[in-house]
Amino acid sequence: MKMTPAALIVGALMVFWASAFIIVGIPSMTMKETPSEIWRPLSPLEKAGHRLYVKNGCSYCHSLFIRVNDWDIGAERIAKAGDYVGVEPAILGSERTGPDLSQEGGEHSDDWNIAHFTNPRFTSPISLMPSWDFLTESEITALTAYVQAQGGKQADLRQARQREWKKQAVAAYSGGFDKNIEWLHSKVPEVWRRMPNPYPATEAALQRGKRIYQQLCINCHSPVGDGNGPAMPFLAPPPLNFTTLRRHVVENRYIGGIFYYQIMNGVTGTAMPYFKKHLESEKIWDLANYLAVFFVGYTDANIEPRGIDASFEPAWENRYPPPGREQPEVPVP
Ligand code: HEC
Ligand code: HEC
Repeated sequence: MKMTPAALIVGALMVFWASAFIIVGIPSMTMKETPSEIWRPLSPLEKAGHRLYVKNGCSYCHSLFIRVNDWDIGAERIAKAGDYVGVEPAILGSERTGPDLSQEGGEHSDDWNIAHFTNPRFTSPISLMPSWDFLTESEITALTAYVQAQGGKQADLRQARQREWKKQAVAAYSGGFDKNIEWLHSKVPEVWRRMPNPYPATEAALQRGKRIYQQLCINCHSPVGDGNGPAMPFLAPPPLNFTTLRRHVVENRYIGGIFYYQIMNGVTGTAMPYFKKHLESEKIWDLANYLAVFFVGYTDANIEPRGIDASFEPAWENRYPPPGREQPEVPVP
């Protein structure tokens, strides 16, 4: 056969249609859309959020699926085809400049998400995600609803927990400083409430804590720790004012373990995120010492029961001792 321009075009079209049939046609005829065990249909509001997700190019930075080889990014569930039944178009994305969002529902409270969409720097000070403050309030509500639906029925359980705790958190907050602290600490297990900070509050450790605070916490809790950062107007209850803890620590001595527990796990029902996936243990203890020394006024580091061997520094002296222990003891090696 002679290779004329017409034969070339017809041949090319035949190859194109044949591959389209194999890649698109056969799967769409043979693949069954069986919902997975976590699937549920999207509400009209969540569907509106999905359209905004597609329209605003969220998938340029976020994926909506986790594969077996993604466990190391802290994945919680391997995606199944049945998770996406009825989602049209299902843009899964292949870029992960931001975190995967396939199980995002209930990871953060609604108010965290609204503050974050308005300006991601409010909740995540060094974020490079663009602000979506050009969207209307109802569009941000829809986007939040869509993100909170990621994870289907499992996300609904997390969301139910968020809502229940939010009721308690708001009630505690409106009961005044003492009630609020009492409620917050009632969520911390006893063993953590009686644990001093095992890491020494050396000058270097405090500077490390400060640096992390500036990168992760400052726009909620504010540079002076009074909770008046730029995210505050969006959040109920607002970020904790750390100075309100002074009375608690005078009465109860210990604060290191409480700070560690709350920073590690976050406070469900409030905008306080958990940081156990972001920060290694020593960084959390450094942060706890930073908050204690600069916002509460003393640190319980280096009091009994003395921490773990790895952090034991014999020559260290607590320059910010708790009330009643004004003469710091130099620990015996
Ligand atoms: C230029 C890249 C980029 C784009 C575009 C983008 N994001 Fe992000 N996003 C990020 C990064 C980076 C983070 C992590 C830091 C942070 O929390 O802001 C993030 C975080 C998030 C989080 C919080 C995840 C978590 O659990 O901490 C959500 C939810 C989110 N983005 C949703 C969206 C939605 C919805 C859109 C589209 C309207 C979008 N993002 C567009 C980069 C992006
Ligand atoms: C998005 C805003 C936000 C960010 C970011 C944030 N927090 Fe919080 N934080 C809160 C809110 C809200 C509460 C709970 C306030 C309440 O219930 O009264 C809270 C509570 C806490 C508590 C509980 C204290 C106690 O005595 O129980 C600690 C500790 C804390 N934050 C430390 C931090 C640290 C450290 C960082 C950064 C690594 C951080 N927070 C980042 C909003 C935030």
